[in-house]
Amino acid sequence: MKKYKVAVVGATGLVGSTFLKVLKEYDFPISELTLFASERSAGKVLEYNGKEYVLQKLEKGCFEGIEIALFSAGGKVSEEWAVEAEKSGTIVIDNSSAWRMVSDCALIVPEINLNAFDNARKIVANPNCSTIQSVLPLKPLQEKFGLKRVVYTTYQAVSGSGQKGKNDLERTLKGEEPQFYPYNISKTCIPHIDSFTDNGYTKEELKMVNETRKILGLPDLKVSATCVRVPVANSHAVSMMVELEKEFTLEEVRKAFEEQDGIVLVDDPQNLKYPVATMANGTDAVYVGRIRRDLSCDNGLLFYAVSDNIRKGAAANAVQIAKALIEADKI
Ligand SMILES: NC(=O)c1ccc[n+]([C@@H]2O[C@H](COP(=O)([O-])OP(=O)(O)OC[C@H]3O[C@@H](n4cnc5c(N)ncnc54)[C@H](OP(=O)(O)O)[C@@H]3O)[C@@H](O)[C@H]2O)c1
Repeated sequence: MKKYKVAVVGATGLVGSTFLKVLKEYDFPISELTLFASERSAGKVLEYNGKEYVLQKLEKGCFEGIEIALFSAGGKVSEEWAVEAEKSGTIVIDNSSAWRMVSDCALIVPEINLNAFDNARKIVANPNCSTIQSVLPLKPLQEKFGLKRVVYTTYQAVSGSGQKGKNDLERTLKGEEPQFYPYNISKTCIPHIDSFTDNGYTKEELKMVNETRKILGLPDLKVSATCVRVPVANSHAVSMMVELEKEFTLEEVRKAFEEQDGIVLVDDPQNLKYPVATMANGTDAVYVGRIRRDLSCDNGLLFYAVSDNIRKGAAANAVQIAKALIEADKI
């Protein structure tokens, strides 16, 4: 099997270090690995698969010869350096929001739309964490019953804000003042993720709306979202209200979820079996449960999905994209 020259940009970060973990777990075919971080970390050493790697800083020409680069160093770094990598012929898989809505860049969840890569630029965008775990259960519903309307409410873990979010939960749990979130995250849920826009929605909420439409190929789908930060260390939850085009039975819905690659059905509330963060942590599945009819409209369905936002919501999805592209002979 061919091996690839791979780079990780942002290798010291929460997502970046999980890239390294997942690459190893997936036995990714690497012939040469280059690790990048900011100037602050350049020269420090990171370990991968029993070998030490000196962290590099980004500079002109640094992507020459690299075949696949996994980026997770924030939007500004991606905007500037993904283009530099693209010029060197590198395939970029980017975790920031910089390229997601660029029309000739593919936005991929590999179980759903790997083919979006075919006629696109070689900068592939990894979707927003909450969006990935939401579109995975929406896809089989779209195929079997048609989607009319989707309403999301999220319960997002502090790891979604990177190391700064994790530190603020730990700090406030010890009784210290918050330094990152506007309120004490150890004591309250905060209905504010990313900045507010003119229409009252946050950018995170609009990411969920726009990215859902792009991934499912439904530009006119009615979607709205409310995104909430909660005092949970890791793994996001999303409550979804979906209005379907066709009539359905709950048995048919359960079967559709069970047959979808990437979903684990956990739906036996009488025996206290429903998705929770501790079940998802460290895994790459989307756990779906609390499936029931919406009492407020015809053909309405409610369910709840939980997934590890750093793994399936970021690093694992990106590595799965690269692996699936290799297996499909697309790179
Ligand atoms: N956390 C999540 O759930 C999640 C999910 C999906 C996507 N993402 C996205 O992934 C990206 C990283 O998130 P994170 O949570 O891993 O953040 P993080 O823990 O704060 O890590 C940021 C990483 O970027 C590096 N970096 C910062 N400035 C740089 C520069 N100028 N040049 C090169 N590297 C630079 C940092 O290196 P130093 O250590 O040297 O500072 C570090 O490795 C963000 O775009 C975020 O939106 C995060």
